[in-house]
Amino acid sequence: MSANSVALAYLVAAILFILTLKGLSSPLTARRGNMFGMVGMAIAVLTTLTLTHNVVYILIAIAAGGSIGALVARRIQMTQMPELVAAMHSLVGLAAVLIAMSAFNNPVAYGIALPGELLHASNRIELFIGTFVGAITFTGSIIAFGKLSGKLSGRPLRFPGQHWVNLGLGIAMVGFGIAFFLHPSWTPFLIMTAIALLLGVLLIVPIGGADMPVVVSMLNSYSGWAAAGIGFTLNNNMLIIAGSLVGSSGAILSYIMCKAMNRAFLNVILGGFGGGEGAAAASDDGVQKTYRSGSADDAAFLMGNADSVIIVPGYGLAVARAQHAINEMSKMLTDKGIKVRYAIHPVAGRMPGHMNVLLAEAEVPYDQVVEMDEINNEFADTDVVLVIGANDVVNPAAKSDPNSPIYGMPILEAHKARTVLVVKRSMATGYAGLDNDLFYMDKTMMIFGDAKKVVEDVIKALQH
Ligand code: TAP
Repeated sequence: MSANSVALAYLVAAILFILTLKGLSSPLTARRGNMFGMVGMAIAVLTTLTLTHNVVYILIAIAAGGSIGALVARRIQMTQMPELVAAMHSLVGLAAVLIAMSAFNNPVAYGIALPGELLHASNRIELFIGTFVGAITFTGSIIAFGKLSGKLSGRPLRFPGQHWVNLGLGIAMVGFGIAFFLHPSWTPFLIMTAIALLLGVLLIVPIGGADMPVVVSMLNSYSGWAAAGIGFTLNNNMLIIAGSLVGSSGAILSYIMCKAMNRAFLNVILGGFGGGEGAAAASDDGVQKTYRSGSADDAAFLMGNADSVIIVPGYGLAVARAQHAINEMSKMLTDKGIKVRYAIHPVAGRMPGHMNVLLAEAEVPYDQVVEMDEINNEFADTDVVLVIGANDVVNPAAKSDPNSPIYGMPILEAHKARTVLVVKRSMATGYAGLDNDLFYMDKTMMIFGDAKKVVEDVIKALQH
């Protein structure tokens, strides 16, 4: 392909990527957005293939990577998506480091230097940035994967002077980067990479429980910048544009998440915020607390006689795959003239928009799905709140207990409703590992069981 045709094809792909992001901003247009993304990516990949000399090697790599990807995608459960995303981010980071290494090893092959010539100053800076962002993304994402998949403890790991150690390492890393810039050689390059790999681990280990969503979106942003860095090294405009789009949209998402969690953006970037001392300290106050439990029949009776019901879905709804059943139940209540809405917390579930995706899949009408800021004022005037598979996002300690690790995080104020029904399998804690005083309030009735089974029983009771 001529240079002009390549530029044109890349431009079309870039526009499609921007339309993808725009489409993904609302559930109504998300499918179309995804479609744009797939077509854009196909154009970008096919155009790039025409630029390469070793198409056979690349096709073999695509076949190998594509088969592994297809296999993993088929086997992965929806609830494991965040850990899969974290694993993918780590691969982007690793790719950035490896490409930077091979470009430094043989800059002539990459067209960034003539034989016998020193690397250009701008290339040295690109290699430095691409490598350290990639290395931090690589190890940071592996730790995030471990924490999200339960292979590593979700508890924050802290030690005295942690921030100073991180700061010292950061300065050392930049120092070796400058040394590499002044005298490009393997020693400063490798030391800088090793420090960045260590920093990736140290930035993520102190982050615990409820703060992980911010970390996932932050790593998402880092992986985009790492990809953009590779784009500069390879002189590929498409990669620069796509990487920057991922980097900046990830940064915006991180900012939105920070606002939702009431955390300072800078603290997140520097690592080690939130978390506190965790569940044991928060729950083990030595007081024997009592709770009231009821049955699906009780829940059907209470909801069937209410004027208004707010459903608070959480991670357990996804685990139980109860979204279709809950939609059927809410249709029955709506048919009885009861006002039903779903209250969505920005970090409910395990990935941004998790609840919106589940409810959209079950074709819950969009006008019933209301975001936290809009619905929080309405709990006080609501007869019944049905908290289904949610826990941390309705924990009143976030508002009332300054010692709680989630203190300051905005919550869905379910505790203000007249009656609260909580569907879960046990009194176990949620993701942040914290006890929840909502479960022990006089107005609360616990209904123990798998979310789908309980809702199906409620439906049966409503039918009779
Ligand atoms: P959680 O606080 O994790 O609580 C979910 C509850 O669902 C658990 O207490 C569990 O109790 C119950 N559950 C699990 N399986 C169930 C089933 N089959 N049927 C019924 N109940 C079931 O969830 P949440 O309220 O949605 O809050 C999300 C948490 O995840 C927050 O701490 C958030 O920070 C964190 N997080 C979010 C994200 C994003 S981006 N959304 C990413 C990573 C982490 P039982 O075991 O007793 O049933």
